[in-house]
Amino acid sequence: MKKFLVTGGAGFIGSNFVKYVLREDSAAMIVNLDALTYAGNLENIEDIMDDDRNVFVKGDIADRDLIEKLFGKYDFDYVVNFAAESHVDRSIEDPELFLRTNIMGTQCLLDVAKKFWQTGKDDQGYPVFRDGVKFLQVSTDEVYGALGKTGLFSEVTPLAPNSPYSASKAAADMIARSYNKTFKMPINITRCSNNYGPYQFPEKLIPLMFSNAKADKSLPVYGDGKQVRDWLYVDDHCSAIYLVLTKAESGEVYNIGGNNEMENIEIVGLILSNLGKSDSLIKYVQDRQGHDRRYAIDASKIKKDLGWEPSIMFAQGIKMTIKWYLDNAKWLDSITSGDYVKYYEKMYADK
Ligand code: NAD
Ligand code: DAU
Repeated sequence: MKKFLVTGGAGFIGSNFVKYVLREDSAAMIVNLDALTYAGNLENIEDIMDDDRNVFVKGDIADRDLIEKLFGKYDFDYVVNFAAESHVDRSIEDPELFLRTNIMGTQCLLDVAKKFWQTGKDDQGYPVFRDGVKFLQVSTDEVYGALGKTGLFSEVTPLAPNSPYSASKAAADMIARSYNKTFKMPINITRCSNNYGPYQFPEKLIPLMFSNAKADKSLPVYGDGKQVRDWLYVDDHCSAIYLVLTKAESGEVYNIGGNNEMENIEIVGLILSNLGKSDSLIKYVQDRQGHDRRYAIDASKIKKDLGWEPSIMFAQGIKMTIKWYLDNAKWLDSITSGDYVKYYEKMYADK
């Protein structure tokens, strides 16, 4: 049996990942550690709460005592670190929280894993680690900054993050790298493009536009709406992470992408037409500060090394996602009727 510590597993991608692993790997046991911030939601994982192979712990990745207790109790083989402050707009309002969680939290996890996984030292003084252990840092394509009209991010593109969010993720990514280079700790880093799918918090483009369109509220498109993102269905991200974790050579970095570049305005149009709503709901608003124009991923390395490719094309994935949000109106309503109202007013009132 392999024991996983998954952090941030009550959020969007983490909750999908925990379910993916329980479904695909009958020999897996998971401890899901999540602080349940505004983005963490126990309803995202209520369908697996009775599974004996799944334990939920409410807590902070920067709480060293707690992480040490969990390692002492469960003797993990794998750590997959999803926990983060993840929204660019919020990082523009409050950068400090992003540095604390994304940077210091990641360093705390790395340090405790190193302490518990080290079995001794080699003759050059390098730590020796228990066989079969691995730390996977879930990074993002935003660490590369922005592209112009052409070109793709590859794993050797220099990092040039532009927002406090992406800068904090780049720092965490580089700290993970340093634990591999300095201590030879078994680590992989993944840098994925924009995800969409079930359980995404409605501060992000697709669920926000869905939620507003459904309620006949205006759809706030930043700037000219021609910014480009490369959209990947969340289950495909989960399968890529699982593959890298279990099969990749330590020290390797992998880009993950959907080969699916789209302008924001195209996405908004698709949501409106799927819901049978009018384009007149679109409202062009003030642009995001420092808004990255285009992201696009070269994911040929993960295909060549591990045989991974996206399995769900956007036309199918967006229909599945819209259906999920329609079928789970209660889930969406319970979020959008709470603190979210204040958030929305604060972020969008002046736009
Ligand atoms: P999310 O905001 O939906 O979920 C984040 C989760 O982390 C929440 O459940 C939250 O409660 C938890 N969390 C926050 N601070 C914590 C702390 N200090 N200790 C423990 N738990 C804490 O985010 P997401 O969209 O699911 O993203 C997950 C990860 O994937 C992030 O690291 C993000 O940078 C990365 N990523 C996201 C995307 C995307 O398109 N959403 C793409 C590439 C990479
Ligand atoms: O690329 C990976 C990243 O994708 C992840 O690392 C981040 O965690 C995730 O939040 C996402 O970042 P983006 O900034 O690309 O996602 P967001 O959904 O916030 O915005 C997508 C695009 O839509 C972006 O160009 C901004 C635009 N947008 C967004 C919102 C919320 C709008 O035009 N209006 C909006 O109201």
